[in-house]
Amino acid sequence: MGPVRVGLLGMGTVGGGTVRVLRRNAGEIARRVGREIVIAQAAVRNPARLQGLDLGCLVTSDPFAVVRNPEIDVVVEVMGGIEPARSLILEAIAAGKHVVTANKALLAEHGNVIFAAAQEQGVVVAFEAAVAGGIPIIKAIREGLAGNRIQWLAGIINGTSNYILTQMRAEAKDFPSALAEAQRLGYAEADPGLDIDGGDAAHKLTLLASIAFGIPVDFAHCHVEGIRNLDRVDVVYAEDLGYRIKLLGIAKRRADGVELRVHPTLIPERHLLASVEGPFNAVLVDGDAVGQTLYYGRGAGAEPTASAIVADLVDVARTLTADPSNRVPHLAFQPDCMSALPL
Ligand code: NDP
Ligand code: HSE
Repeated sequence: MGPVRVGLLGMGTVGGGTVRVLRRNAGEIARRVGREIVIAQAAVRNPARLQGLDLGCLVTSDPFAVVRNPEIDVVVEVMGGIEPARSLILEAIAAGKHVVTANKALLAEHGNVIFAAAQEQGVVVAFEAAVAGGIPIIKAIREGLAGNRIQWLAGIINGTSNYILTQMRAEAKDFPSALAEAQRLGYAEADPGLDIDGGDAAHKLTLLASIAFGIPVDFAHCHVEGIRNLDRVDVVYAEDLGYRIKLLGIAKRRADGVELRVHPTLIPERHLLASVEGPFNAVLVDGDAVGQTLYYGRGAGAEPTASAIVADLVDVARTLTADPSNRVPHLAFQPDCMSALPL
């Protein structure tokens, strides 16, 4: 069977990481899927900025050309923003292409329309990278905890805010220089207001709640407060009192619905979440059968996020194979590949 052909929209932090991970781990991935996954075409706003980087595929400045390319099986949207990302994804779905996206802002605000369109067309919209970077939290809740009635979940789900709070506490940095460093490291959104005002965490919380509680995506009802007004002195006082300040996203089942809130929270320093530092994220989930489970890892940055994008591509590639046993694989590797590829 030929390779799975990917159309990549955006070649910034996450797009660049995705290209590197797909290339570096091509052998592993092909063994898992039974087919290669290749970038067949990519769109960047300004191809000159690739500065001679050889993507090994066609590069265009027109993202619609990628979506309309009949050779493309899967569109990976890592441009960010609402438009043209929304129109591109809807067009890809209408053309019967699967979609992988890291765009939590788009899904939190327009996810209901996008998921409904995907269901109607029988295609996948996968978004593991949209929440908590490299932590497979969507899969954990949707699949691993599928037998539970989830009571609540709470987590540190914005790496930039957590990085700033850590830098202010542990490195005595002031807020603006910690934010500038987070931007330089590729953690922050194109509009860093989304990070420091809590909007990004609220986008992610909305998506988590939808999966955990089986409800439509409802960003409008999330209470949102970020860390913008915090100072180094707040962080230091909290520490003196035995607490860490963390930006938490909390989703709770209540008698009258689901409560969603994002705000800075004082956490006792002995609590597990208090020790989550830098760009790391962690999510605690409470299910009636399993009790509390904790998921931890890098929540932002090029390759941690690419890890989730590529995992979604592997899932999509499995659904594209004819063999139903490959869709929920019981083997980590495809037996017919094992002798063909060098380890
Ligand atoms: P970047 O700004 O680094 O990259 C965006 C890329 O998309 C750039 O190559 C940009 O081109 C291109 N682009 C933007 N608009 C257009 C357009 N209209 N036509 C063609 N190309 C376009 O963003 P990130 O990689 O950091 O983020 C991408 C997405 O991933 C966002 O949705 C973000 O929220 C999400 N995400 C980011 C994470 C991170 O750690 N950075 C983690 C998890 C999710 P140009 O440079 O020429 O403008
Ligand atoms: N800006 C986001 C963050 C990127 O800092 O968490 C990962 O979603």
